[in-house]
Amino acid sequence: MKIFVINGPNLNLLGTREPEIYGVITLERINEMIRAWAAEESVDVEFFQSNHEGEIIDKIHDAVEHADGIVINPGALTHYSYAVRDALAAVRKPIVEAHLSNIHARESFRTTSVTAAVADGIVSGFGAFSYILALCALKERVESEKD
Ligand code: DQA
Repeated sequence: MKIFVINGPNLNLLGTREPEIYGVITLERINEMIRAWAAEESVDVEFFQSNHEGEIIDKIHDAVEHADGIVINPGALTHYSYAVRDALAAVRKPIVEAHLSNIHARESFRTTSVTAAVADGIVSGFGAFSYILALCALKERVESEKD
């Protein structure tokens, strides 16, 4: 099973970015945690981060041929990118949206996710662990769709 883990704008700055909200863990460290989980679960993961909407859309399209499912943290694109939403809807693969922070407990603009409706589900508010929870749920979903 191959899973794409896609991170959107500003997530490359984790570690120093608003640590009171996102903690001090870096994206590289989160990816190490994911690699350890993936090795245990015999899952192949590929990481992608971009600050550019079009590059994220291209990577989502790439999943049609090269992934069984996607975990995505679209960053602020979550709240307004109909283009990312349409790309996710187009791939027809299991998708879990992940957020480090609880987007429902912050500014009102963050309580809207335009991408969530085309995901199988979302995990929000558990820091780096959100990605692991999202991956566990995604793996189950991919396996159940294969049955
Ligand atoms: C985020 C939440 C978004 O509102 C924000 O723009 C981010 C990070 C999160 O992981 O909590 O960039 O997606």
